[in-house]
Amino acid sequence: MTDSLLMSSGKPRIFSGMQPSGVLHIGNYLGALRNWAKIQYDFEPIFCVVDQHAITVYQDPKALRESIEQVAALYLAAGIDPDHSAVFVQSQVPGHVELGWIFTCVTPMGWLGRMTQFKAKSGNQETVGTGLFCYPALMAADILLYQAKIVPVGEDQAQHLELTRNIAERFNHLYGDTFVVPETRLPAVGARVMGLDDPTQKMSKSAEGANHAISMLEEPGRIKKLIGRAVTDSNPQVEWETAGPGVRNLLGIFQAFSEQSNAEMRAEFDGMRYGDLKKRVTEMVVESLSPIQAKYRELMNNRDHLRHILQRSAERITPIAEQTVQLAKERTGLFSG
Ligand code: TRP
Repeated sequence: MTDSLLMSSGKPRIFSGMQPSGVLHIGNYLGALRNWAKIQYDFEPIFCVVDQHAITVYQDPKALRESIEQVAALYLAAGIDPDHSAVFVQSQVPGHVELGWIFTCVTPMGWLGRMTQFKAKSGNQETVGTGLFCYPALMAADILLYQAKIVPVGEDQAQHLELTRNIAERFNHLYGDTFVVPETRLPAVGARVMGLDDPTQKMSKSAEGANHAISMLEEPGRIKKLIGRAVTDSNPQVEWETAGPGVRNLLGIFQAFSEQSNAEMRAEFDGMRYGDLKKRVTEMVVESLSPIQAKYRELMNNRDHLRHILQRSAERITPIAEQTVQLAKERTGLFSG
């Protein structure tokens, strides 16, 4: 492993992260993780488990602690190579909160009030912590701390990414050129997997329904049951062109895992009965998750090794974070020694 990797490759730096607020599901895998693993060698990649974002809504401490390592292990099990990509936990690097605070101070409340994710998430909380409101300023800090150029996230994070650009521009305007303004371009992030119980909603970690998501750690028997109960429609068989949202979602899951062309999909599925479709999709999901789950178990059974990987990555990127924080402190006039 080359320690200087992150500073010297000359490739564009990318940053992305997921919240450890529950087990990752196949939507996270097909929509983001697998893509991160595929593109990692074309970039200088930093992949973070954003635990400080997770506590913007209450998390059971024990469950959170476990979930952090689970998510890190799933990043690695999905093929992210820690000898190339940095894989670490947000709390390991204090610069996130340091820069986050500075950004909180340059972010007008009006900008935060417009965030649709805040409106959606605050709606179902009894009390809303201030952190949930300020969360996009911390997300901006995650990205700008490393001067990342590209941020591979799904469409649902486009508004937060735009806000990150606005925060970078506002800081640069107030205090002088300091931050790289990341691109708005969202790199193709792969498939959009919908809920099995409601194929009009994107598969989500926080959705309530027991039949909503397939966890990346699901056992074959449960996968069979979940897919068996997935919403379809009243047609007798698959019609590729006109399939309703439920059937389209099952076909989409199969196609994403198998990476088949539309023509191959049509040839295989047109005219197939839904029972058989579900059987094929189940086999595909079980087969595809099995090696990932094996790798995951291996990592979770050797926590010292897992923690060592996280520690090593954190140490590798901390100098970048410290340099940015130092610069931001100097620019804003904070006491920086
Ligand atoms: N907001 C993202 C989500 O909810 C997670 C996240 C936090 C993130 N910081 C980030 C994603 C920085 C990309 C870059 O999914």
